[in-house]
Amino acid sequence: MKSKQKATIVSQEQLAPGIWSMWLKTDMAADAHPGQFVGVYPKDGSRLLMRPISICDVSDDRTQMRLVYRAGGSGTKEISSYAAGEEVYLLGVLGNGYDLTKMQGKKVILLGGGIGIPPMLRLAKELDAQGIRTITVLGYADAQLFLNQDFEQASDFVYVATMDGSAGTKGTVIDAMNAGMIMGDVICACGPMPMLRAVKQYAADMGMKAYISLEERMACGVGACLGCVTKTKEKDEHTHVNNTRICVEGPVFDADVVDI
Ligand SMILES: Cc1cc2nc3c(=O)[nH]c(=O)nc-3n(C[C@H](O)[C@H](O)[C@H](O)COP(=O)(O)OP(=O)(O)OC[C@H]3O[C@@H](n4cnc5c(N)ncnc54)[C@H](O)[C@@H]3O)c2cc1C
Ligand code: FES
Repeated sequence: MKSKQKATIVSQEQLAPGIWSMWLKTDMAADAHPGQFVGVYPKDGSRLLMRPISICDVSDDRTQMRLVYRAGGSGTKEISSYAAGEEVYLLGVLGNGYDLTKMQGKKVILLGGGIGIPPMLRLAKELDAQGIRTITVLGYADAQLFLNQDFEQASDFVYVATMDGSAGTKGTVIDAMNAGMIMGDVICACGPMPMLRAVKQYAADMGMKAYISLEERMACGVGACLGCVTKTKEKDEHTHVNNTRICVEGPVFDADVVDI
């Protein structure tokens, strides 16, 4: 059930320049599903809107949740200044997440680009726990890698791509897929829109199923403001328009359904 609740920060550390990892003690960890997200409220009243951040991981006893985020704008920079012991309000758990039943018996390729990498970790762990084999390709701007060692524990194979070629394959996650001749049955991807468009095209060309997580601008996070709609191929049977809300019906979509 969605609610706004206080959570206590257990730890906060910098993983790479501008990239932060925060563990929080929260009841929401019990219900968290891979691909879902929470809204983190800055305490500064001038920053009213929650910041949507994906669930990167949960503790084994499901009492803590890990968020990994880029401190880029004013809200996330403020959040990165919080220390262990401080309290913060969360809205959650939000969104649909990945449907793991569609991956049973399949070889799954996980693609994460930039701040789209964190949600792939929880997904890799839950697939691993169900005995589902995964290959992970992580895309970064440069050799300032983060979370790659966590993926080594959770995924069968981990490949790295960097845009400047300073680590792994030079180029995008798709370049790394081609270079490593990586094949599978299903792709799960999260990252910037140009990457997701390329993934959608790649999956169509290769005859693979793809589930993509869209990380677009959001306001309310609960379906009320229509600030996060994206185009769909088919008309919604209730509203009769080619739109869907990323915060409620997504953020994870079958790539064939959304017109990105
Ligand atoms: C479903 C989802 C999951 C996400 N998961 C992660 C994650 O795990 N790690 C991570 O680093 N980032 C993630 N993002 C992106 C993150 O929400 C934005 O980077 C962040 O909200 C920007 O806030 P700011 O304070 O840095 O910037 P500001 O410029 O101060 O933000 C101003 C307003 O615009 C909104 N906004 C700005 N950019 C974005 C954006 N790209 N997406 C959504 N809202 C935005 C903010 O929420 C805020 O309301 C996710 C976004 C979505 C929609
Ligand atoms: S953010 Fe308000 S409807 Fe999605």
